[in-house]
Amino acid sequence: MDYQKILSEIERDVQPSIGQGRVADYIPALSQISPNMFGMALQEVDGAAFHTGHSAVPFSIQSVSKLFTLTMAVQLEGEALWKRLGREPSGSAFNSLVQLEYENGIPRNPFINAGALVLADVIVSHVSNPKAAILEFVRNLCGNPDIEYDQAVAQSEREWGDRNAALAHFMKSFGNLKNSVDEVLDTYVHHCALKMSCIDLAHAFRYLAHGGCNPDTGERLMSTSQTKRINALMLTCGVYDAAGDFAYRVGLPGKSGVGGGIVAVMPGKWSTAVWSPALNGKGNSLVGTLALELLTTKSELSIF
Ligand code: DON
Repeated sequence: MDYQKILSEIERDVQPSIGQGRVADYIPALSQISPNMFGMALQEVDGAAFHTGHSAVPFSIQSVSKLFTLTMAVQLEGEALWKRLGREPSGSAFNSLVQLEYENGIPRNPFINAGALVLADVIVSHVSNPKAAILEFVRNLCGNPDIEYDQAVAQSEREWGDRNAALAHFMKSFGNLKNSVDEVLDTYVHHCALKMSCIDLAHAFRYLAHGGCNPDTGERLMSTSQTKRINALMLTCGVYDAAGDFAYRVGLPGKSGVGGGIVAVMPGKWSTAVWSPALNGKGNSLVGTLALELLTTKSELSIF
């Protein structure tokens, strides 16, 4: 398969759509990014790497980071995690409060904000310096010691994060947050503010295409069955209430962030990451979704 040719064709084919959609502006520090950026990278589990466009430019990965924290939380607590988290699509916005009340403070899934706050709480419970532990985990997976938090984005999200604070306090009132709301929010806004490029992300997430093993080191991060479960959660909950449309068009497990990044995994073969900051009405990268649809159409590879 000539992936480099496919990526170059995709970059050409998406040009007319670049500029459609809206860059997220509810975190002021995110709103300053140009909507005209486009990058894409694909890395096979054996290490062969392909990229195009602004694929080496670090951007704010936002909710894509929830895949890292979910993996860490699964390592730390295994099946016990699911006493505090559901595994169903939410059918509502990623920062919605309403379901939590009906469902007694148990978030529908680990990828909506409430669920990711529970993951942050699990990490805070187990490690003495959660921000350092998450950074080390991500740097090791990428083989890139230069990955950092964007402190301006973390600070901006903390200042404008009243809704996340509300979710955290609400869950604490149900006993589903064990640590201080401040510490959990601080951990959460930092992992959302990780700055990574498409090349970093495609490299990092190959373990999800490789049965839970880091293909660089052979290290096992999770069992094959836990890896299957995370991929299943990505498919059903990874792009919020656009999961049906994304499965229909792209046909791969994927995880998006409001910084305009999306990662997707073709089990047994590769992981890919795309970045274009302008979002569609569901909060997913408009051009990124199109690029992934073109990738599975042109390569004739998907999980279906
Ligand atoms: O909690 C927030 O608002 C952001 N830090 C993360 C949101 C996000 O990326 C949701 N995604 N699509």
